Amino acid sequence: MIDLSRASGLPLAVDDSRPDLAVRFEGGLHPGTLDTRTLAELRPALADPTAPGPDPAYFMYRGVAGFVAADPDRHRAFRWRYDVTVFPPGRLGEEYLRTLGHYHLPIQAGTVSYPEVYEVLFGSATFLLQKVDSISAEPSDVRVLDVIVLHAEAGTKAMMLPDYGHWTINTTNRPLVVSNWICADCQSYYESMSLSRGPCYHVVALADGPSYVRNGLYVNVPPELTIARPQDAPALGLVRDQPILQDLLAHPQRWRYLCEPDEAEVDLHSAIEVRERVTPARLAGPDARTKGRGT
Ligand SMILES: [Fe+2]
Repeated sequence: MIDLSRASGLPLAVDDSRPDLAVRFEGGLHPGTLDTRTLAELRPALADPTAPGPDPAYFMYRGVAGFVAADPDRHRAFRWRYDVTVFPPGRLGEEYLRTLGHYHLPIQAGTVSYPEVYEVLFGSATFLLQKVDSISAEPSDVRVLDVIVLHAEAGTKAMMLPDYGHWTINTTNRPLVVSNWICADCQSYYESMSLSRGPCYHVVALADGPSYVRNGLYVNVPPELTIARPQDAPALGLVRDQPILQDLLAHPQRWRYLCEPDEAEVDLHSAIEVRERVTPARLAGPDARTKGRGT
């Protein structure tokens, strides 16, 4: 049994003796709605739609917790939702096990989209963030503006910036458990994931470890990736090994930025420490460089 209570602030555990890595909810905690992502659902959005892999690929417990706070100034309420997602170790063909991925829809027409904050409860996660000029465009037409690879260890918090699509990837040989806090009004957009078969770089397993292989369906891709890691941002409530729940309960007004990112008092980028900017050729082995040219 993997105890998640210290990391999450809620009485959660994962039964790692079971193939479905079932989450145990103690103390009367509501399990939310369990959605499993089947391999059949995921395959059209993979680099290799025929890839073998774990089935179900991962388990999503949506709405495990929620929190509401009134805005004393504007007579409205802020609502936040807490979800838990559990990943087995494994591969999807050459790719490491990952999510289908999604963008968030704009808050209103012409505005940015909602941000989201993940906390890594167990294992270590790789998040790939991708900003594009049109979330609905075909990969041959879309322009990728920025790509960030965020490596996050247990206890750290990973900021999904507004307007960035995101994928969660388990490059380890252990289960991965993440949770997320998000504005309850946020809607996800999945429709372009099958068109593009994932982000513009796939994270694949080569003999010498994870590498980044260009997704040949995309045409306009930035030449560099940003490699980053989470950075404590106390003004945003993001502190390593401090469950977000504790901060949300103590300082709910601080967390309005999840619902109103334009009103944030500090730049959300401050939660991300840039380590280096690299070209895929530097990261990938010879096989990957060959694949990167186009197929
Ligand atoms: Fe999201």
